[in-house]
Amino acid sequence: MDIDITSYPDKDVSIDADIDISAESAPKKDIFYVTTPIYYVNDVPHIGHAYTTVNADFIVRYHRLAGEQVFFLTGTDEHGQKIAQAAEANGVSPQEWADRIHPRWREVWERLEISYDDFIRTTEDRHIKPVQELVQRLYDQGDIYLATYTGPYCVACEAFYQPSEIVGGLCPIHERPVEWIEEENYFFRLSAYADRLIELYESRPDFVQPDIRRNEVLSFVRSGLQDLSISRTSFSWGVSIPWDPRHVMYVWLDALQNYTTAVGQGTDPDRFARTWPADLHLIGKDILRQHAIIWPAILMAAGFDLPRKVFAHGFLTVGGKKMSKTSLTGISPHLLLDTFGSDGYRYHFLREGTFGQDGPFSWESMTARYNADLANDLGNLVSRSLAMTTKNFDAVVPAPGESTPLEDALLAAGVLAAEQMDERVRKLDPAGALGAVFEFVRAVNHYIDDTAPWKLAKDPAQRERLGTVLHTVCEAIRQISILISPAMPSASRRIREQLGIGPVDSRPLSESVISGTSLVGVKVTKGDSIFPRVEVEKPA
Ligand code: MSP
Repeated sequence: MDIDITSYPDKDVSIDADIDISAESAPKKDIFYVTTPIYYVNDVPHIGHAYTTVNADFIVRYHRLAGEQVFFLTGTDEHGQKIAQAAEANGVSPQEWADRIHPRWREVWERLEISYDDFIRTTEDRHIKPVQELVQRLYDQGDIYLATYTGPYCVACEAFYQPSEIVGGLCPIHERPVEWIEEENYFFRLSAYADRLIELYESRPDFVQPDIRRNEVLSFVRSGLQDLSISRTSFSWGVSIPWDPRHVMYVWLDALQNYTTAVGQGTDPDRFARTWPADLHLIGKDILRQHAIIWPAILMAAGFDLPRKVFAHGFLTVGGKKMSKTSLTGISPHLLLDTFGSDGYRYHFLREGTFGQDGPFSWESMTARYNADLANDLGNLVSRSLAMTTKNFDAVVPAPGESTPLEDALLAAGVLAAEQMDERVRKLDPAGALGAVFEFVRAVNHYIDDTAPWKLAKDPAQRERLGTVLHTVCEAIRQISILISPAMPSASRRIREQLGIGPVDSRPLSESVISGTSLVGVKVTKGDSIFPRVEVEKPA
């Protein structure tokens, strides 16, 4: 990047040295605030986009289940060249295009049971006004200056690159030709924040996770930061620069602020103080630099607290490459939802692979896991247990008799599953958390095999023992219905309906799993299969 230094203003940058970057300095607040990226409305969602949001929803639902107050934000990113181009290709204005596409995102989130508290669109006034005010403030305090940008730009990423990052004229992420632009732009003095960013990554190793991403960011910043071009003049679809309306704001400068405008930046100081900083920005690894470098630098310049954590997950891949619309590998979530339902869908993308690493998507492995874990292990457990209770005790959960070491061991397994789930969700390991839950599901199946209630049922002398076994199994299913609720809210509800009990209540798992309502005397109903088996053939 070439910067014409003749147009540097003569003001010195004033960086507020009083901003404390330690996490401890952030005010105590009660709300656990989680965000997803806001999605571009140039196109409709594919399962790669839904991956971020499903995982965020699981984490959010877990924290709510544990009795914590949560605020969960998502939304759409509606400005920039990419959206202007999509609108033009479809012969409508960018605003019309955004209005047409954004419901397609909401509709998918609804089918996936995403429990967001707010959905922000960057074309809303509640966003645009505070964004302009903040950028004006940064300009007034000398953080922004006018210069000439010459260099590569990828419209698909909406990102500027260093010439050295462009191999064969192609964007390193999209592998599509980049544009070379030469424009008079406003620049944000990103380079002035390099030392403080390095101090941030070093003093708060948890700020960027996983470690591999933290190291990547650290070495990128250590290798030297350039100032960031934050305005464009060659197109007009964006937030206008308040002091110079020939320019529209660089889409990322506008978009990143959704995280703060949605919770009261510039409009509701009390709410802002109660909610900000975000506890977790969940993103994909392709937008790491924007979140781990640009965003904290803007926040430092603004004098706002820094988020507690930026976690970048890996990609869903097809043939080893990022699934994407551009490479025509994007699969619509609706296609999978039609076959697996929201529970099967959510379970797969939470359980498969390691959160943080890339993982391939395949219809075959999704079907295999669904049939093994959900249809067989969990679905059959519920249906056979309720069938035995119906047949032997008129569908009323019997009182337990004396327990044996087998019951004690199962009780301990349930407590262990709850503890492990808590620990793993807090480490942002959804797959590990569900692994612990399904370990318990298998333990309950083993308990049934070991106690063989169908044999006990044939011997009237074993009636009390049969009651103990079926009570224990129904109780274990109640515990499972709590543990699976953040991952599979609908299946949890249906299991509890069949068990004859109400919705899951919010309190720490250590309490709800151990001391729930007593099931003795509760009338169960053997209803429809919770997870009907799925055939392997994919739809045409
Ligand atoms: N609009 C920006 C984000 C602005 S946040 C202030 C953007 N939007 S996006 O729609 O292109 O992508 C949104 C998210 O989807 C990113 O986190 C990205 O990593 C994720 N995914 C898109 N394709 C993906 C896969 N194939 N796999 C996993 N996640 C991927 O970037």
